[in-house]
Amino acid sequence: MGFDAIEIITAKRDRGELSTAQIDWVIDAYTRGEVADEQMSALLMAILLNGMDRREIADWTQAMIRSGERMDWSSLDRPTADKHSTGGVGDKITLPLAPLVAACGAYVPQLSGRGLGHTGGTLDKLESIPGWRASLSNDEMLGVLRAAGAVVCAAGSGLAPADRKLYALRDVTGTVESIPLIASSIMSKKIAEGTGSLVLDVKVGSGAFMKNVADARELARTMVALGSDAGVRTVALLTAMDRPLGLAVGNALEVQEAVEVLAGGGPQDIVELTVRLAREMLEAAEVAGARDPEEALKDGSAMDAWRRMITAQGGDPDAALPKAAESVEVAAPASGVLTSLDALKVGIAAWRLGAGRARKEDPVSAGAGITLHAKPGDVVREGRPLMTLHADEAGRFERALAALDGAYEIGEPSGDGLLPLVVDRITA
Ligand code: URA
Repeated sequence: MGFDAIEIITAKRDRGELSTAQIDWVIDAYTRGEVADEQMSALLMAILLNGMDRREIADWTQAMIRSGERMDWSSLDRPTADKHSTGGVGDKITLPLAPLVAACGAYVPQLSGRGLGHTGGTLDKLESIPGWRASLSNDEMLGVLRAAGAVVCAAGSGLAPADRKLYALRDVTGTVESIPLIASSIMSKKIAEGTGSLVLDVKVGSGAFMKNVADARELARTMVALGSDAGVRTVALLTAMDRPLGLAVGNALEVQEAVEVLAGGGPQDIVELTVRLAREMLEAAEVAGARDPEEALKDGSAMDAWRRMITAQGGDPDAALPKAAESVEVAAPASGVLTSLDALKVGIAAWRLGAGRARKEDPVSAGAGITLHAKPGDVVREGRPLMTLHADEAGRFERALAALDGAYEIGEPSGDGLLPLVVDRITA
């Protein structure tokens, strides 16, 4: 049945509920180019302002899934598990997590994205490994999965093309920050990807999309419901993004840190979250006789899976990672306890150093970023390094340092106003 775009826009503008047939038609007609960008922009803004109920969000998600292919891993002999993070600063968890879960007994078919703005992207990080390739055909993806147990690659153009078009439009029309639109965008891709189970890492805090726990909880509940309704066993953790994760922010710097974790070391918060998410994934996937993730980190089997995964995608796990040409140290202005370190400001500084991109087509610098020498709760001494900034051109430091203005506080030890690493767990 055909509809009129204007009728659908005005219905949502006037706080009406869209029918399943209206949603199916508008997503399909927009993907085919029959509904114009300006009409879809108006509808997206009406949705951002007036929301959608659970049935509308489920229909919107299903319509986006139907716009493209749905992948199928049923030929594999073990369960599949995936993790999706809503994005943050220093969030390199996928890198150690995917091979770790593979080493413990599940297959991990993970379609990842690139960074935009202050948040990093898994594909940009992995591309700092010489030779590593993000674009794989579906057959190649299956081949890497069979060889390594885990594959991390870019989504092909056939997967949820409606979301691809809608996301680009939302990016330039101020309509990204809508819980129904974020939830349906993420879950349409994850359901189309064909994973049997999914663990969502919903970040909360200054460096995340969701700045407060109430919004993060609502986003998590919405996504868990969408996954469960579609037959994907889904659980969400709400995790802290009021400070950066780990000590490295920037593409090659984060790969280096991930390799340290796989070698049995690495910062405590990264290790704790990686192990926690691995346990959640193995439980959600119902892997019979799953190995213990801490053991797999200790005995080197997770590292072996990483090396197989990188090699199977053309990368050289032994190659030296790129380093930025220039560096500058930021010294602590006083002695005391580092009481806060703002994730957003650190993310913006790393972005300005060249680690991120302003437009989708921009290149990123592999070596640029920030090495932190202290995290909130640590004692710092006046004049000692607090962080090191890395860039390919010295001209980038001034704007990065400006972004760090007010990014940290040094004071007396306090009851710390920081979020716990894992704030909450949401199930269906
Ligand atoms: N990531 C997505 O894939 N979609 C959104 O809308 C936000 C984050």
